[in-house]
Amino acid sequence: MIGLDACSAGDLDDFLALALDARVTARIGDGTPWGRETAVARFRHGLASCERGEGLWFLARDGGEVVGLVLGELDHLAEIEVGVWLAPDHWGQGHGRALLGLLLPMVRLRLPGVVPTAYANVDHAASAAMLRAAGFADDGTLIGRYGTEVTRFVARTAEPE
Ligand SMILES: CC(C)(COP(=O)(O)OP(=O)(O)OC[C@H]1O[C@@H](n2cnc3c(N)ncnc32)[C@H](O)[C@@H]1OP(=O)(O)O)[C@@H](O)C(=O)NCCC(=O)NCCS
Repeated sequence: MIGLDACSAGDLDDFLALALDARVTARIGDGTPWGRETAVARFRHGLASCERGEGLWFLARDGGEVVGLVLGELDHLAEIEVGVWLAPDHWGQGHGRALLGLLLPMVRLRLPGVVPTAYANVDHAASAAMLRAAGFADDGTLIGRYGTEVTRFVARTAEPE
C-alpha cells in the first residue's frame, strides 16, 4: 500500500533518483534534463518552502520503494501549485490520480481557502487526464514561466466522487 512521508533533508538521494531521470523531467520546467546542481537546488528550495509553512512535499512509498513525489507550493497568497512526479515504472496505474486524492485534503486542511492549481504542458495528455480525474478543471492556456504553452488547471471546490 502506498503511503506519503513528509520530505526531509535525508530524502535527497530519493529525490535525485527522480529528478535526474530525464523521462521524469521531460515535461517539467523547460523539459531539458536536470543536472545534479539544479536538482539539489530545487530540493533545498522545496524543503525551505515547507519549513516556512508555504509548501507540502511528500515522497510516496510502497514499502521501501519510492513510487514518486507529490508536492504543493504556495504560488502567491491565494494559490498553491501542486504537482506529481512518478518513477516511470509506476506510470499509467492510477497512482497520479490517487496521490492527488491524498494531497488535496491535506492542502485544504493546512492552507484553508487557498486554491490548488496545476500547470501542464499543452501536449502532456497524461498530466491533463490525471488532473481532470482528480477534480481539476481547465482554466485556459498561457505561456508558463519556462516559455512553454501550458494549460492552467484549478481544483474544483468539491472533492471528486
Ligand atoms: C503525469 C503523471 C504524474 C501521470 O500519472 P499516472 O499515474 O501515470 O496517471 P494515472 O495512471 O493516474 O492516469 C490518470 C489519467 O491519465 C491517463 N493517462 C495515463 N497515461 C497517459 C498517457 N501516456 N497518455 C494519455 N493519457 C494517459 C489515464 O488513462 C487516466 O485517465 P482516465 O482517468 O481518464 O482513465 C506521470 O506520468 C508522471 O509522473 N510523469 C512524469 C512527471 C510529470 O510530467 N509530472 C506532471 C507535471 S507536475
